[in-house]
Amino acid sequence: MTDALDRPTSILVLGGTSDIALATVRALRSPALHRVVLAARPSAGREEAVASLTADGVAGVTAVDFDAAATESHEGVLAAAFATGDVDVVLVAFGVLGDQQEFEDDPDLAVEAAQVNYVGALSVCLRAARHLTGQGHGSLVVLSSVAGERARRSNFVYGSTKAGLDALASGLADALHGSGAHVLVVRPGFVRTGMTTHLEPAPLSVTAEQVADAVVSGLRRGSTVVYVPAAMRVVMSGLRHLPRAVFRRLPI
Ligand SMILES: NC(=O)c1ccc[n+]([C@@H]2O[C@H](COP(=O)([O-])OP(=O)(O)OC[C@H]3O[C@@H](n4cnc5c(N)ncnc54)[C@H](OP(=O)(O)O)[C@@H]3O)[C@@H](O)[C@H]2O)c1
Repeated sequence: MTDALDRPTSILVLGGTSDIALATVRALRSPALHRVVLAARPSAGREEAVASLTADGVAGVTAVDFDAAATESHEGVLAAAFATGDVDVVLVAFGVLGDQQEFEDDPDLAVEAAQVNYVGALSVCLRAARHLTGQGHGSLVVLSSVAGERARRSNFVYGSTKAGLDALASGLADALHGSGAHVLVVRPGFVRTGMTTHLEPAPLSVTAEQVADAVVSGLRRGSTVVYVPAAMRVVMSGLRHLPRAVFRRLPI
């Protein structure tokens, strides 16, 4: 249960080493927060994430094994997290960007990315929704992307996985309306994180901390969708309706 000030007491992060996820946990840190489960593949990065959040004063941080592609293991991960106590926020933060040309050259790589970004997310979102509605409260925060809103030539495989995820999360938001549980769909533009260090930042790029702040305010307002930065909503509204012949010529 959130405390009297509506601050989460317990957070489950699926994709527990994500830069955006860790910034979000820091932004949600408060004296009320006493349990944070980082579900991620075993790695030195996972141990560093636990140590760094703990050093920053976040209480009760632990790690559990989680592979987004291993859908048969997901119910066990979710059930264990909810068995220990109520979970106020489930943050779905895993994802792979990949490389468009490599996806076209080797479709097996594209299938692997889709297994993580869409199939894995489908699996955990539906399961998390059942647990959240069962306890009658809590938020499912899903990291979608503006890349899914209109597929671009330069990254349409990744975009297609995010389009599927976004449709799923938006549908879940409607399905859970009135249940006590809530879904927040987060649509960032370019975020300067480990996922994008090899790329030139795009216009309107933001930091993981800016995405985290948008998540915190979206949760406080009970929003269903947030764009980061907020101006992306207007940009995407324009891009979505641009005639294809014009859209094709854009250097994006
Ligand atoms: N950065 C951007 O520009 C941007 C923009 C819009 C949306 N997003 C979305 O935001 C989310 C977080 O991304 P980020 O920017 O924070 O990048 P990040 O730091 O690279 O985080 C991505 C995370 O996904 C995890 N992951 C990948 N494959 C996995 C698997 N099979 N099982 C479990 N975890 C797996 C990685 O864990 P490992 O440590 O195990 O590799 C890593 O923690 C992603 O869904 C991304 O698509 C990012």
